[in-house]
Amino acid sequence: MTFPAHRIRHPLPPAHWPTREDAARARWFSPIRIGRQLTAAERTWVPAMVPWRATDDGVVTPEVLEWYARFAEGQPGVLVVEATGIRDVASGPLLRIGDDRFIPGLQALVETVRERSRGRTRLFIQILDFVTVRRRPEPERFFGRYLEITDSLRAQLALWLDDRRWRDRSESDVREFLLGADRVTIETVLTDRELEALDYGYRERVWDVHLPHIRDLPWVLPGLFAEAARRAREAGFDGVELHYAHAYTMASFLSRLNARTDGYGGSREHRVRLPLEVLAAVRARVGDDYVVGIRYLGDEVIEGGSDLDDAIRFGVRFAAAGVDYLSVSKGGRFEDAKQPKIGEAVYPYTGESGYECMPTVLSDARGPFGRNVPLAAAIRRAIRSAGLRTPLVTSGGIATFDQAEGILARGEADCVAAARQTLADPDWFRKIRLGYGDLVRRCEFTNYCEGLDQRHKQVTCKLWDRKFEPGDPAVRLASDGRRRLGAPSWSPPGEAGGDAPAG
Ligand SMILES: Cc1cc2nc3c(=O)[nH]c(=O)nc-3n(C[C@H](O)[C@H](O)[C@H](O)COP(=O)(O)O)c2cc1C
Ligand code: SF4
Repeated sequence: MTFPAHRIRHPLPPAHWPTREDAARARWFSPIRIGRQLTAAERTWVPAMVPWRATDDGVVTPEVLEWYARFAEGQPGVLVVEATGIRDVASGPLLRIGDDRFIPGLQALVETVRERSRGRTRLFIQILDFVTVRRRPEPERFFGRYLEITDSLRAQLALWLDDRRWRDRSESDVREFLLGADRVTIETVLTDRELEALDYGYRERVWDVHLPHIRDLPWVLPGLFAEAARRAREAGFDGVELHYAHAYTMASFLSRLNARTDGYGGSREHRVRLPLEVLAAVRARVGDDYVVGIRYLGDEVIEGGSDLDDAIRFGVRFAAAGVDYLSVSKGGRFEDAKQPKIGEAVYPYTGESGYECMPTVLSDARGPFGRNVPLAAAIRRAIRSAGLRTPLVTSGGIATFDQAEGILARGEADCVAAARQTLADPDWFRKIRLGYGDLVRRCEFTNYCEGLDQRHKQVTCKLWDRKFEPGDPAVRLASDGRRRLGAPSWSPPGEAGGDAPAG
């Protein structure tokens, strides 16, 4: 791995915590209007985090409710529910919103957050689409079954082996030969995409327009997103966040790598077309008074991918089209991901772009803290110059009150989000606001949680695990029986429930 270029271990930034009175005057704890009607009580924000706690049918479970209840107890201004699939297709323990039968579970989630935040937290749900990504196959399976034996493959074999008879050999002969063939032969006769399917697992691109379901994405997605947003509104969410970031369908439409030639790829104007059409369809379905936000990339951080210049122009277009907020992320693409083990799927946070999405303390000279703020700041400047007031949300390595206040004071963003720090201590916003900042359990930014996400295991924080006696019946454990499933609970001194286990 060649990133980060310098492997410097950075200490956590020093933390100075405000008094309760100072916090009351702080920008971070001041209200903000989002959209036409909604006000968030503070500019503290928990961005989407998938905890792998839904059923395999995508349904809300008691563990999902507990996960969001715990964040709600910290009373952030905004809490965004994890990436939730807009299609009703099998996708493991990822939440779904692709059918009306998911509404009751999501309604329970909304009620839980309202109750546990005492009505203080605004709740949005991130909705996403993704295309097929398969696990890396056993070579026996790949050559025995998955690989399509085409005339062009036979022709390549005939050429490479200098034997015309390969043009007419049976499918089973070709499969058997390839299974025993050396690497040079395999690399020579397979196409790049076939080789990728062997080495990384088969992965679709949004520009694979020879596949009818990919060709039709521009006709299908606006309706799917709009229906998902309608369900979000019916379930009681305060808004929807369109997931246009990271490795998924909509980010891939925005990508400079998108080579579609049907008016939905190539030039910037064509790449932003479907994302704008989806936004318009969602807006038409949920109305002007409902919050519709977008999370997208300030930089893809991959070779040939979109950069900040693209993101600035896209941001201005989204703002002009009436999006209610923009949440800026970075990287997290498949293109530079590490090769997975056989039987595992490629994970978009293992390459440099993944590092930039969730930077760790092992970093280059710039370090991981607030590393992505300049992207949001540049996009915000352009949007303001265009005369638009759309709020911007920044995230990435934000772990102290001073960082957040500085970002807001300098006008780099309007809301400041923290994912991992809030995972480490879901109460941290409330602790700071009430003057108990010195009790914040500080994230170490070493990505134990991300490792769990990679393996689709129930996500927990390594810091919680240290907080219980093994065998304590009051503490709920993850399905492997070794990790605490929820953060230890906290209440301000003098308030009941301080030591009660969150379970
Ligand atoms: C376990 C885990 C799951 C995540 N899931 C999502 C997700 O569903 N959608 C999303 O946009 N970002 C997701 N992210 C990225 C975070 O929202 C955030 O952008 C990133 O962690 C950087 O912020 P931080 O430094 O405050 O953690 C996830 C991050 C983690 C650690
Ligand atoms: S597991 Fe590590 S990186 Fe993740 S939230 Fe906990 S301390 Fe932070």
